[in-house]
Amino acid sequence: MTDVPKSATCSATDMIAPGGTIGILGGGQLGRMIALAAAKLGYKCHIYCPEENSPAFQVANAYTVAAYDDETRLALFAKAVDVVTYEFENVPAQTAKIVAQYAPLRPGARALEVSQDRLSEKTFLNQHHITTAPFAPFATLDELRSAVQKIGKPAVAKTRRMGYDGKGQALIKNRENIDDVMDVTKGADAILEGFVTFDREISAIVARAKSGDVAAFPIAENVHTNHILATTTVPANVKTIVEAKAKIMATKIANALDYIGVLTVEMFISDATGTVTVNELAPRVHNSGHWTIEGAETSQFEQHVRAICGLPLGPTDALGTITMKNLLGSDILDFEKYFNDPKVHYHHYGKKHPRKGRKMGHVTWVETAK
Ligand SMILES: Nc1ncnc2c1ncn2[C@@H]1O[C@H](COP(=O)(O)OP(=O)(O)O)[C@@H](O)[C@H]1O
Ligand SMILES: [Mg+2]
Repeated sequence: MTDVPKSATCSATDMIAPGGTIGILGGGQLGRMIALAAAKLGYKCHIYCPEENSPAFQVANAYTVAAYDDETRLALFAKAVDVVTYEFENVPAQTAKIVAQYAPLRPGARALEVSQDRLSEKTFLNQHHITTAPFAPFATLDELRSAVQKIGKPAVAKTRRMGYDGKGQALIKNRENIDDVMDVTKGADAILEGFVTFDREISAIVARAKSGDVAAFPIAENVHTNHILATTTVPANVKTIVEAKAKIMATKIANALDYIGVLTVEMFISDATGTVTVNELAPRVHNSGHWTIEGAETSQFEQHVRAICGLPLGPTDALGTITMKNLLGSDILDFEKYFNDPKVHYHHYGKKHPRKGRKMGHVTWVETAK
């Protein structure tokens, strides 16, 4: 028996039916959880990742270990799948361009271009009348001095590209010597952001279908420790109006990007004024959405698969009060305690080495109303 040629899986509406193959750029835990959700719906996944033994390989139908600039391997990968998605926003523009020649890339190149550079991201948001921290670009010490003049102190300096979990960031307090900032940004393109005083951080996660339909998950509240997400809780402790505002903003962003898939928007909330300030975008499923696996009618991963395959979106209501906790580094070794808790849902990402701060797994508690 031969495999069904990939064109046969696409109808006139460009729907990819169960049985089709999803290509995923990136082989970490997000790719792994997309692949698990895809398998439930009858899709196969082919993972493309430069690192051997990536967590997603263990649960996928096929994988390619190759560099993101290996044009031959990228083309072969894209030809073998019906749609390509990604689990991280730093997919190089050239990689996106190559795969898009052979398979639809969802979300598209525009979402990557906007979100992988903090300057283009904030510029885009402000163009769409979405509030962000005030910002100014800099690279050199002289430019940093003028940026501080413009933005004032306190402020946060961040490299424009490749930052995550607070890496490449420096806080400038009121009387601090700004020269030290250059030790962190090291002359790379960077931005200075005004420091936002906020009461809580939330995530608005929405999915946009190929039809243009948008479904928002309930707003989740995030607590970070050492710049790494520690817990997410749902419902977020915000007023109804703030919840509505956050969902409207995320929907507006998804529409403006003509987005297909799950989009996460991190926001700062001021309780007294109800101000919602957008911090950053992630054009993908997100750690703050892991609670949806057991805690929502449809998980963020299934929702992403539905969206990129051209299927209708699923319902998004929460099934109770939910807490998700990341298992970082050696936390993962305490698994017995979690298996002894009948209310806990335990996730292990299949990584070997529990290095300090490394995301090894997570646990979720769902408290349903009796
Ligand atoms: N302008 C700001 N004002 C106040 N706090 C900030 C600001 N920018 C970032 N932070 C804090 O630092 C954290 C990490 O910054 P973020 O821009 O989200 O970078 P990363 O890409 O590392 O997640 C945020 O979750 C928030 O707690
Ligand atoms: Mg962040």
